[in-house]
Amino acid sequence: MTDLSRRFVTTDDFARAARRKLPKIFADYIDGGSFSETTLRRNREGFDRYLLRQRVLHPLGPADLTTPLGTGTAALPFGPGPVGFMGLYHRDGDICVHRAATRADTPCVISTFSINGLATMKQAAGTVPDFQLYLDRDPEVNASYLDQCRATGVKRIFLTVDTAITSVRERDVRNGFRSVSRITPSLFLQFAARPAWSLSLLRGGFPEVELVAGRPEFGRGALAQAGNLSGRLDIDLTWDKVRQLRADWDGELIIKGISDPEDAARAAAEGMDGIVLSNHGGRQLDHGPATITRLKAVRAALGPDPMLFIDGGFRRGSDIVKAIALGADFVMMGRPFAWAVAAAGEPGVDHLIRLLATETAITLQLMGLTSIAELKAAGPEILLTE
Ligand SMILES: Cc1cc2nc3c(=O)[nH]c(=O)nc-3n(C[C@H](O)[C@H](O)[C@H](O)COP(=O)(O)O)c2cc1C
Repeated sequence: MTDLSRRFVTTDDFARAARRKLPKIFADYIDGGSFSETTLRRNREGFDRYLLRQRVLHPLGPADLTTPLGTGTAALPFGPGPVGFMGLYHRDGDICVHRAATRADTPCVISTFSINGLATMKQAAGTVPDFQLYLDRDPEVNASYLDQCRATGVKRIFLTVDTAITSVRERDVRNGFRSVSRITPSLFLQFAARPAWSLSLLRGGFPEVELVAGRPEFGRGALAQAGNLSGRLDIDLTWDKVRQLRADWDGELIIKGISDPEDAARAAAEGMDGIVLSNHGGRQLDHGPATITRLKAVRAALGPDPMLFIDGGFRRGSDIVKAIALGADFVMMGRPFAWAVAAAGEPGVDHLIRLLATETAITLQLMGLTSIAELKAAGPEILLTE
């Protein structure tokens, strides 16, 4: 048994370790939700509504987690979703996550607000991640994002649509995240209390969001950029802009941040290749429902063909199994990957992926299933409700 296997037995072990490693301002930024954090909590509680059917005495081989996704396949039914500033939680954190996902042969989505840019990631990992796009209010900036996607060979863009207005995350307000643009005395004290993180991250200067480096309107350094980037998001984001992007982008286009069946149906009608059923991990509209509880209705409205990704509170293999049974094609996770990379770097991300794959495989086998394909074929009937 390796050291990592004993230290990190569950996703939550990474969460606790990340909090011990990171300055408070970043630990709170990752963990927090909006306002009362009701939706953040509800995302977890929603899974308890669904129970798994135990079937026995079926012939069982090793579980096959291969997952059909669009025109291709992924080796696993889950992978990292876009998390901004991953490279602040661990030096080159975006690269670590993307490389680990590449090794596991599962897709990785990187944020517009990632520290490492697309070309750097391609060079480091040998593969190009999928790209999450935040539309800026300046069309010229958006055109430059698309140019960088084309130049590096990005195949799939996730357009995030649930953040035209940034909600209030009260932990961030108290810490001054997005309003500090330089290292203040109180930040300095937080950094000094986390010497391992500070030594590793701050050597070579404070990191920058590479995608917008050299653009003075975004400021210099990731702290200033964090404030400016979200303040510059296009508040007039409507279906017209989605249609325009559909015309401008030849690759796959997925809308991230839909949780209502009517919006899902509209996305399919507008020619999207898929959607992400997401409430931004409980960081935007507080008091909305858990994503898992919307899944059946959203799949029904979307139709069988467009890809249906889901995120929000996934921490266990059993969560993933429930989502696939209810009609999702693929599960994305935000915080778990941020915690893993902060807590234990690239080996930590490899380990998280192994843990979740093992949990998923064991859950399937105890349900009398041997593959994701069988789980999909079984559908919601394989679940029970209390
Ligand atoms: C620290 C943090 C940063 C995030 N940054 C982005 C981002 O840049 N773009 C985006 O579309 N979603 C972003 N998200 C939302 C995630 O992609 C995802 O929807 C959410 O984290 C899923 O919930 P989970 O963390 O419970 O897995 C972020 C989430 C967190 C926790």
